[in-house]
Amino acid sequence: MKIGICGLGTVGGGTVNVMTRNSAEIAARCGRSVEIVQVGARRDNPDCDTSNINVSREIFDVANNPDVDVLVELIGGTTVARELVLTAIANGKHVVTANKALIAEHGNELFAAAAAKGVTIAYEAAVAGGIPIIKSLREGLAGNRIEWLAGIINGTGNYILTEMREKGRSFEEALSQAQALGYAEADPTFDVEGIDAAHKLVIMASLAFGMPLAFDKVFTEGISGVAKDDIQYADELGYRIKHLGIARRTGEGVELRVHPTLIPERRLIANVNGVMNAVLVNGDAVGPTLYYGAGAGAEATASAVIADIVDVARTLNVRPDQRVPLAGVTQESQGDLDE
Ligand code: HSE
Repeated sequence: MKIGICGLGTVGGGTVNVMTRNSAEIAARCGRSVEIVQVGARRDNPDCDTSNINVSREIFDVANNPDVDVLVELIGGTTVARELVLTAIANGKHVVTANKALIAEHGNELFAAAAAKGVTIAYEAAVAGGIPIIKSLREGLAGNRIEWLAGIINGTGNYILTEMREKGRSFEEALSQAQALGYAEADPTFDVEGIDAAHKLVIMASLAFGMPLAFDKVFTEGISGVAKDDIQYADELGYRIKHLGIARRTGEGVELRVHPTLIPERRLIANVNGVMNAVLVNGDAVGPTLYYGAGAGAEATASAVIADIVDVARTLNVRPDQRVPLAGVTQESQGDLDE
């Protein structure tokens, strides 16, 4: 199977490195050889060796390359990324993406285009970095009626809150550090104003509740208004301040919200620190389950990207209607949303 990767930033570089390092294991799990035949990137990544790969400065070369079976979209943003993915789909390529904004804001359209063309869009890396939460919601919990889920789903925000509490750093210092470590979005207001978490929440909710992607319906509040004093007072009262994304069935439908939350310090999720993410999912059969791991970073996110590449490889010659539905929302479930 031939892979084309668009974008060679933190996640793109990490994906090339992990695919190269673990090529034997990955090929064995795919049941076929998997080769990166082209990378499209405006500039090189000094942390990643692409000397044996055809690198094009024009990302659309990858979407139009007839040798490429799977396009891995790691450029971020929504405008060019949407065009790129639509071009790849029109050319009959499967798509793997880590782009939560793209899926949350344009997923309904992209899934429809992919279904019409008989290709898949896989997006494990879009939510909670290396934690396999998409596969858990779609497959592991498939026998459950999910009542609610709640999670720390922005590593940058959690890193900032942790640094402020444990090291007395200012908000600005902690944010700069998160940017230096490659955790933050290109526009870090997405992290600190809750937009990134809202993107991830609607993706999880679409799978958990079989609903369309409803980004514009999420109540969204970030952590930019949390002061060191708030964190200290919360501590004195036995609480931690955590930024949560919460999706819950109500009598009328589904409630979607992201905001800072006071959590009693004895709770497991109150002790999830640094860049780590954690998602609690409550299913009617299984009860509460907890998924924990690195929510951002080059190789943690690459781990999820490659899991999707393996999934696509395993089903490459399977009829589209007989594949595991990589796109969690089916056309049939794309109804109108009430306010
Ligand atoms: N900026 C995101 C975060 C990256 O900090 O969680 C991973 O989605």
